[in-house]
Amino acid sequence: MARLLRLLAGAAVLLLAASPAMAGTSVVDVGVNWGSQLSHPMLPSSVVKMLKTNGISKVKMFDADPWPVGALVDLGMEVMLGIPNDMLETMSGSYGNAKDWVKENVTVYGNKLKLKYVAVGNEPFLKAYNGSFMKTMFPALKNIQKALDEAGVGGTVKAVVPLNADVYVSPDDKPSSGAFRPDIDDLMTDIVKFLHDHGAPFVVNIYPFLSLALSDHFPFEFAFFDGGKNIQDKGGISYSNVFDANYDTLVHALKKAGVPNLKIVVGEAGWPTDGDKNANVKLAKRFYDGLMKKLAKNEGTPLRPGKLEVYLFGLFDEDQKSIAPGDFERHWGILTYDGKPKFPMDLSGQGHDKLLSPVPDVQYLPSQWCVFDDKAKDQSGKLPGNIQYACASGDCTALGYGSSCNGLDEKSNISYAFNMYFQMQDQDVRACDFDGLAKITDKNASTRGCLFPIQIISAGGRAAPALWWAALLAFAVMLVV
Ligand SMILES: *[C@@H]1O[C@H](CO)[C@@H](O)[C@H](O)[C@H]1NC(C)=O
Ligand SMILES: *[C@@H]1O[C@H](CO)[C@@H](O)[C@H](O)[C@H]1NC(C)=O
Ligand SMILES: *[C@@H]1O[C@H](CO)[C@@H](O)[C@H](O)[C@H]1NC(C)=O
Ligand SMILES: *[C@@H]1O[C@H](CO)[C@@H](O)[C@H](O)[C@H]1NC(C)=O
Repeated sequence: MARLLRLLAGAAVLLLAASPAMAGTSVVDVGVNWGSQLSHPMLPSSVVKMLKTNGISKVKMFDADPWPVGALVDLGMEVMLGIPNDMLETMSGSYGNAKDWVKENVTVYGNKLKLKYVAVGNEPFLKAYNGSFMKTMFPALKNIQKALDEAGVGGTVKAVVPLNADVYVSPDDKPSSGAFRPDIDDLMTDIVKFLHDHGAPFVVNIYPFLSLALSDHFPFEFAFFDGGKNIQDKGGISYSNVFDANYDTLVHALKKAGVPNLKIVVGEAGWPTDGDKNANVKLAKRFYDGLMKKLAKNEGTPLRPGKLEVYLFGLFDEDQKSIAPGDFERHWGILTYDGKPKFPMDLSGQGHDKLLSPVPDVQYLPSQWCVFDDKAKDQSGKLPGNIQYACASGDCTALGYGSSCNGLDEKSNISYAFNMYFQMQDQDVRACDFDGLAKITDKNASTRGCLFPIQIISAGGRAAPALWWAALLAFAVMLVV
């Protein structure tokens, strides 16, 4: 009898577990960018469970690390793998290298992996790269596509190049004047013709948030999909949001380059939640609500009505990302560093206040924090150096102007920096000393609106930087300053 009950209970659990997947049929067909620049990654198999539960069936990655890719095998999820910019030279230099990449990272999975795209490079023509990848990009793309073709998968797997929207311009801010940036016009024209000839799409990253962050004159409402602002273009076309205007600027640029029908995939679209005055949960929710509704309606843009293919950026906050572009870089996740939803997001596009399911089975370090020790005396002025040391490898991006922890008093500010470092170092007691200025406490140091996080137990992969490495980094920072 007890056995029967257990079986019945088991069946009930199965039914319950199945329901989100069934709801999945009405989920918008949207992809996610699964980045790996976290000091403490979660188990890929748990991440994949979360994706399935939420009905997300398309994943884009920035490399081809077999650890997460292995978790996607046999699931039928559509995958885009990536080749980082620093491998472009290798891939362009010899066809053999491209062949090896395809062999080791594509062929090896056979048809167990539903691979659709290989992203060759990531935003390689960004102005910040000073043209470093100008010579290697196109040859690398050609070599990879050729290797895919020769491996017999070129019919279904396409080599693409995710590009930032700064590869095209419109001098008068009207989509109809869209054209490729003059310094790369010839190269872009060759690339888009190649993509066209091989049945590959143009992958573009579109960021209304950056339009807003980069210019104080940018009309705020135009960054969202429910704003009041409109701009008029030729032929009586009216744009009510910068996403559509940007996308159609690309459509015009493609037309000018001679490939008017080239398919477009939005490789990244999203909104960060911290690290800038316009990066918060409220505005991120507003952006995603509008985007999801738009995608659910299959309305497309004025020039390309119909279904849009979009990958959200990104899945998680990544504490190892470079903050050269801004503190917000580490806060793009629709989920937190520990896999929890930050705000309601209705993937069915109906605008309901639903939360995504979190990543299951995440384990935490003990509930303890490293804070500034009130009783300590900083007689020899060691505090500034210690804060700098903590922030050089710990993540202090929530402390700046407009960020969630900007309102802290001076002591809490110091505690925040100390704690982030301590957690990053897996709560190693030696990482909470700071010349005797710090102490460990089990009293939650969080304040209203400012979370002092407890780090998770890393599932492996990229290890947290060792203490000596952090010391070296801090030393280098001191030399520079
Ligand atoms: C396959 O991809 C991995 C992860 O991106 C990379 O480290 C490795 O070098 C690639 N293999 C080859 C042969 O290029
Ligand atoms: C690009 O050039 C600027 C200014 O000359 C320099 O500061 C920056 O480090 C360079 N970036 C790269 C990626 O080479
Ligand atoms: C806290 O730290 C941030 C970042 O270093 C700084 O901008 C801010 O002024 C500090 N606040 C106080 C009260 O010291
Ligand atoms: C600490 O407090 C914050 C804010 O109240 C809360 O969100 C967080 O979960 C708490 N952390 C722990 C480990 O209890």
